[in-house]
Amino acid sequence: MPHTPVWFMRQAGRSLPEYRRVRADVPMLEACARPDMIVEITMQPVRRYDVDAAIYFSDIVVPLKAIGIDLDIRPGVGPVVADPIRDAEGVKRLRALEPDDVPYVTEAVGTLVGELGERPLIGFAGGPFTLASYLIEGGPSKNHEHTKALMYGAPDLWADLMQRLSAITVEFLRVQAAAGAGAVQLFDSWVGALSADDYRESVLPYTSWIFERLAELDVPRIHFGVGTGELLSLLSEAGADVVGVDWRVPLDKAAQRVQPGTALQGNLDPATLFAPWDAVARRASDVVAAGAAAEGHVFNLGHGVLPDTDPDVLARLTEYVHTETAR
Ligand code: CP3
Repeated sequence: MPHTPVWFMRQAGRSLPEYRRVRADVPMLEACARPDMIVEITMQPVRRYDVDAAIYFSDIVVPLKAIGIDLDIRPGVGPVVADPIRDAEGVKRLRALEPDDVPYVTEAVGTLVGELGERPLIGFAGGPFTLASYLIEGGPSKNHEHTKALMYGAPDLWADLMQRLSAITVEFLRVQAAAGAGAVQLFDSWVGALSADDYRESVLPYTSWIFERLAELDVPRIHFGVGTGELLSLLSEAGADVVGVDWRVPLDKAAQRVQPGTALQGNLDPATLFAPWDAVARRASDVVAAGAAAEGHVFNLGHGVLPDTDPDVLARLTEYVHTETAR
């Protein structure tokens, strides 16, 4: 590539007027199951920003819905689970995911890969801790207290839950890669809530298992979580080719925490985009400079695009990074 590749987590979605238009009368989970909607929404940011990758339009809870878990995505709230999972009976409801549960994924990815040509489509899935938190808490959570209570107090049940979620995640990513996705990202967004010791004992065995299985897919594997400065070396140990970093750790410092040969993705603070352009440009240049210390850099935000972001700033930022890093 003639410049550092650029894409943005949550690049499709509420910051785009064309997204709000097509989603106006269609509930989120219905949109995620309709190939025409998936293709259109995935392509919207590619057309507008000229980013170097598309990310498949879906949500981390889609495979859980597909195996029959009663859940919804509420506007302004996020995933809400009707009957939270907190005991052995609940965990048993998490059956294996089969490709036939998500035929719309295969169809939409196939169409997208045709439309995108050389530009890669990034497939994604939720990480096991983050999925467990939504299932156990029943919705978004600040403290993850029921999740941690189960993790600390019922290790065997936790292991069963994590194994089932990890298998679902691998299968969901396998379906996307089989249909042509050119990279996969594991979003274990909320795992930064754990100490390094707890991560090592209660999550790392499962993320390592996931990345081992994903190696067979022969596509680059990205691993990301928010607030994971203290966990970056463990996230890297799990086996990803690229580790995503939020804005709290400069990329040159992050480079020292990951395994040799690991590229970094990130990490402009998404709130920066609300500042005057001079500040955006200066901070984007800082990210590019720090990223040069890594063994490969994919420019991104440190977390998802905030809903009120001005799309014109993202377009300008993409062009700016392309120009700054031209080689
Ligand atoms: O990046 C992209 O453009 C692809 C789309 C994408 C969505 N969800 C669409 C979505 C991706 C990659 C996700 C992943 C996701 N979902 C994560 C991991 C990424 C992260 O941000 O850490 C998490 C934690 C979720 C769970 C979830 N789903 C949340 C927190 C929310 C937002 C709730 C809100 O409204 O504030 C959702 C809903 C959701 N997922 C929307 C979109 C576009 C908003 C739906 C709407 O338009 O109402």
